[in-house]
Amino acid sequence: MRPAMRVVSGIQPTGNLHLGNYLGAIRNWVRMQDDMEEENRARAAGGNDADRNQCLFFLADLHAISMPHDPAELKRATLEMAAALVACGIDPQRSVLFNQAQVPAHPELQWLLNGTARMGWLNRMTQFKDKSGKNREGASAALFTYPVLQAADVLLYQATHVPVGEDQKQHLEFARDVAQKFNNDFASEDAPVFTLPDPISPPKAARIMNLRDGTKKMSKSDPSDMSRIELSDTSDDVMKKIKKAKTDPEPLPSEAKGLEDRPEALNLVTIYATLTESSVEDVLKDFGGEGFGKFKPALGEVLVETLRPISERFTDLLSDREALDAILARGASQAREIGRPTLEATYAALGLIR
Ligand code: TYM
Repeated sequence: MRPAMRVVSGIQPTGNLHLGNYLGAIRNWVRMQDDMEEENRARAAGGNDADRNQCLFFLADLHAISMPHDPAELKRATLEMAAALVACGIDPQRSVLFNQAQVPAHPELQWLLNGTARMGWLNRMTQFKDKSGKNREGASAALFTYPVLQAADVLLYQATHVPVGEDQKQHLEFARDVAQKFNNDFASEDAPVFTLPDPISPPKAARIMNLRDGTKKMSKSDPSDMSRIELSDTSDDVMKKIKKAKTDPEPLPSEAKGLEDRPEALNLVTIYATLTESSVEDVLKDFGGEGFGKFKPALGEVLVETLRPISERFTDLLSDREALDAILARGASQAREIGRPTLEATYAALGLIR
């Protein structure tokens, strides 16, 4: 049997969970959690229970302070995002679910890794360029060193696999570079301190774009609410947003090639395909030749049906603050235990007396 997998991933609690996060990341997290659990059962049945697969999912609240933010809003968003993850199917009994701020080993390890991360590597990160825009000098130092914290997030737990969307792949490459250099510089070949994590991206189709501009990804930072579908949207909101989504006047083509220069149309078809677990080609078999007047209501309905049970659970969970606090406290305590040996090994490898 292959070695156990340690799956680790995070999401920033900045605003509500949107369809891009859900289809691009969270749904995949839930699948991995469920698959790992099934395999764990098989392992236990085979008498090989010692080495279990494990999933850790966290709210990257420490990353969220790299951009200007409102503290009350961050607190609210962190609780909401925790509720949203559980509503989507992350089960705190099976996965370790926590927020970074309750596990000081994350920023501690970041500092230790700052000695290994190179300025040249950080300078190449496209997210810093995107988020700082023309105001590089005014960007926070945290925004620049953000990838080092992200490296610490996964290296702390010896992650073997990190599910992320395409946009986070560069940060994962960075984490591998840091791990590799640290192991080379401070550990012997047969006893590396860090595992090199592999990014796992969901199928390409799961890149969900902005409803007002099909060339930009769907994101919580877009000022327009109409650009994204949020988990907390009512059915009416969802229908309205889909109806108003930008499109072109042409009917849908019958083959995927016909969507090449039509980013908005491609995005809507992609969302439909992802929700119904089919392919763009299959959707076009059904809707090729039809106009958006027919396709949009069909898409809206599939969306409403998918999101309804999630948004009901979300509302229930949010109304019990104590239960949410308890979930995060328990997850953080488990995370602290799991991360401790690696943190200690890092201090020791660097010659720091504890
Ligand atoms: P964040 O919070 O921006 O996004 C969380 C996850 O959702 C994916 N995603 C998308 N996928 C498809 N289409 C979209 N429109 C879309 N928008 C977001 C992201 O790729 C990501 O997988 N820095 C990270 C959080 C983080 C992290 C980590 C992730 C911090 N530490 C360690 C993995 C491992 C971020 O800001 O993701």
